[in-house]
Amino acid sequence: MTIEPSAFMNTLVKRFDFHENDQSTLKANAAWGLEIAAEMADHFYAYLGRDEEMNAVLNETEGRVHRLKQTFVTWFHEMFTGIDHWGDDYAERRWKIGLVHVKVGIQPQHIVPAMATVVNEVGKKLKAQEKSEELKDALGKICMIDLAFIEQSYIDVATTAVLRETGWSAALFKRLVTKGAESM
Ligand code: HEM
Repeated sequence: MTIEPSAFMNTLVKRFDFHENDQSTLKANAAWGLEIAAEMADHFYAYLGRDEEMNAVLNETEGRVHRLKQTFVTWFHEMFTGIDHWGDDYAERRWKIGLVHVKVGIQPQHIVPAMATVVNEVGKKLKAQEKSEELKDALGKICMIDLAFIEQSYIDVATTAVLRETGWSAALFKRLVTKGAESM
């Protein structure tokens, strides 16, 4: 039942129409991406810190916020470089980022607003520095691809865990979920 990250990446590239133009635009602006990454990280963790539940998660272990700011910078920069031209390594990395959040116990409802913060803050920066619409579009697409990976990991981990524990087939599980939704 678990998705295959490379295949999922290919599907998302098609669904978001993330084409060569977007990729070359991002690569051409990779140095700029790295330049603004730390400031974006500050906005991101300030936003998370304003929510009581997320603030508690962030401060659960010593030095977590500091470490997270560094991993954020790497993550943000990788959206521009594409690691291996948005190939297998990129997909594997994004899949693992999703798994980390499931493992740490962050509820999926926090993920979309968090990514919206990135899109908003980077949007303000693009406007202030009179960057192109092409860059704005390309960044919007790759942020949504990364978001789709994190969201998908939640449902995949939950489904895989239920199937493993119960021995149910994927078809039976799907039927039960559909039936459950009908009765709500
Ligand atoms: C757009 C959404 C998000 C992105 C792109 C993102 C990015 C990342 C990245 C790149 C990592 C490092 C993964 C690794 O170690 O391989 C990470 C870990 C983590 N993130 Fe997020 N994150 C997001 C949302 C959130 C939210 C909403 C929270 C809530 C507090 C959060 C808290 C954490 C924590 C606690 C870890 C693990 C830190 C550790 O290793 O101690 N993240 N995140």
